[in-house]
Amino acid sequence: MRNILVTGGAGFIGSNFVHYMLARYDDCRIVVYDKLTYAGNLDNLLPVQEDPRYRFVQGDICNRADVEAAVRAHEVDTIVNFAAESHVDRSIMDPDAFIQTSVYGTYTLLEVARSLELERYHQISTDEVYGHIPAGQSSRETDKVEPRSPYAASKASADLLVNAYHVTYGLPITITRGSNNIGPYQYPEKAVPLFATNAIDGLPLPVYGDGRQMREYQYVGDHCEAIDLVLRRGVIGETYNIGTGVEVENLDMIEVLLDALDRPRSLIRHVADRPGHDRRYSLNIAKITALGWEPDHTPTEAIIKTAAWYRDNEWWWRKIKSGDFRQYYETQYGERLRAAAAQQ
Ligand code: NAD
Ligand code: TYD
Repeated sequence: MRNILVTGGAGFIGSNFVHYMLARYDDCRIVVYDKLTYAGNLDNLLPVQEDPRYRFVQGDICNRADVEAAVRAHEVDTIVNFAAESHVDRSIMDPDAFIQTSVYGTYTLLEVARSLELERYHQISTDEVYGHIPAGQSSRETDKVEPRSPYAASKASADLLVNAYHVTYGLPITITRGSNNIGPYQYPEKAVPLFATNAIDGLPLPVYGDGRQMREYQYVGDHCEAIDLVLRRGVIGETYNIGTGVEVENLDMIEVLLDALDRPRSLIRHVADRPGHDRRYSLNIAKITALGWEPDHTPTEAIIKTAAWYRDNEWWWRKIKSGDFRQYYETQYGERLRAAAAQQ
């Protein structure tokens, strides 16, 4: 089995991936390498902190010496790169860290993987690199990237670097492009955990624009299972979309969430839209299903399961929402919510 460096493993999807791999494989060893930005949280890794197969190293993926030292010290043979700034709204406020981490940080990891001749470099990417997808169409892995937010552009840039290292240096890479993940340990700036935790507290749910934008909400555990499959059976040099193949309008997602939490629709507040808001993402998932994977959860099941986790785990999110998050919330939503209230 592999010795995996999971960069960004203290974040949402990375920590779920750590739990998934250690539960599934007895002989798997994992080193989480994470800068612990506002989104990195060691609470996400509490269930494995005593596991002898798990180690944590605090570090920045932009620091080549530190990455190299971690890879050597733990005899890493595989890097799975989850590290990124991941929230579109923050990328609109200030793109700088997005470019640093996803462009320079990915380059740094690729250089380490190349110089130490690692067995695999796997890049976690996103459906957002394809940009807005018109109704009736869905993105294939061979489609061109047309990112429209600084976040999506930083992720598409990383993908291009990863592919270039395969073509130029023969680096054994794979890429997965996932749709919107939901589930345990997602920082409550993203729509589903923000709406779930606001609903639990009886606070308004700030819905951008008409709320008819479409996303392919998938359960994070399903995504992790597919990443593992690509690590084992994916073809070197290839990219795989991972999603459900079913897109859901935001307002429909919200209705499922409110019903699951037994909260009224009157909490919905339409507020000023996100600039450049991508209306629709949609993935063609034929390539990953041909590899022998299909999601275990429908989007509705994923939303209900996620709502239940936030209802049952207030210990996890209350301390986040009572900290620096309050300043972010005021900057992002204060004016929007006051303007919406004035119009009522
Ligand atoms: P997240 O924001 O919850 O976690 C990101 C993690 O990366 C944090 O632990 C943070 O501390 C760490 N990090 C950030 N900059 C770093 C740096 N310079 N060096 C080391 N660590 C650093 O993000 P997430 O939602 O778990 O997303 C993980 C990955 O999956 C990202 O690459 C994201 O683009 C991608 N992705 C996310 C989604 C989604 O729905 N959340 C969907 C598809 C793809
Ligand atoms: P988000 O979770 O930020 O993911 P994405 O990267 O796909 O934008 O948002 C999911 C959808 O919900 C997206 O269409 C934007 C919308 N949204 C709102 O309407 N209000 C909000 O407060 C947030 C955070 C998102």
